Amino acid sequence: MKKIILAITGASGAIYARHLFDFLQRKGVELHLIITENAKGILKDETSIGENYFKKKNVSIYENSNMNVRIASGSFRFDSMVIIPASMGTIGRIASGYSDDLVSRAADVALKERKKLIIVPRETPLNDIHLNNMLTLSRAGAVILPASPAFYHKPKDINDMAKFIVSRVLDQLGIENDLVPTYGEKT
Ligand SMILES: Cc1cc2nc3c(=O)[nH]c(=O)nc-3n(C[C@H](O)[C@H](O)[C@H](O)COP(=O)(O)O)c2cc1C
Repeated sequence: MKKIILAITGASGAIYARHLFDFLQRKGVELHLIITENAKGILKDETSIGENYFKKKNVSIYENSNMNVRIASGSFRFDSMVIIPASMGTIGRIASGYSDDLVSRAADVALKERKKLIIVPRETPLNDIHLNNMLTLSRAGAVILPASPAFYHKPKDINDMAKFIVSRVLDQLGIENDLVPTYGEKT
C-alpha cells in the first residue's frame, strides 16, 4: 500500500485537495494529512466540508504546528508528498529551507530523502519572488504542477475542472485513473 503525505495550505482551491483526498482514500492509500490553520478557513469558505470530513480509515491527521510527529523525521518511510493547493507562503518557506512548521519540514525531508514532492501552486499574477522560489524547488527535485486546468475535455462544472488537476497529480504519483479522458479520446 502506498504511503502519501498530503498537505492542504491556505491558497484558494480547496476543491482540488478534496478530490485528491477522496480518490486516494477510496484506493486505500495510507494518508498522512496536514491542514494549515489558513487552509482550515478557506476549506470552510470554498467547500461544504470541514476538518471532520477527513477523519476516515487509513488517514492520520497532524497539526501543522506540531513537529513532534513521525512525518517530521527523515526516518519516516513514505512514497510521496503532495501540497495541494500550495500557497506562496508555504512555497517560500520550503524554498528557503526555513522549516518552521510541519508542512515545510515534511517537504524538506521529502527533498533531502529524494522522495517525490509534488507542489500545486495557486496564485496569480506571480511576482519574481514566487517565480524564483518555484525555480529553486524545481531544481531541488520538486514537481511544480500549477493549478491550471485545461478546457479541451469540455468540463461541465468546477468538479470536472478540479478533476483535471487531480488527474495530473495522480499521473505524477504513478496511480492509474480515468478522471479525465486522454486528449483525443471521445468525451
Ligand atoms: C481567502 C483567502 C484566500 C487566499 N488565497 C491565496 C492564494 O490563492 N494563494 C496564495 O499564495 N495565498 C493565498 N492566501 C494567503 C495565504 O493564506 C497566506 O499567505 C498564509 O500565510 C499562507 O499560510 P499557509 O501556507 O501556512 O497556509 C489567501 C488567504 C485568504 C484568507
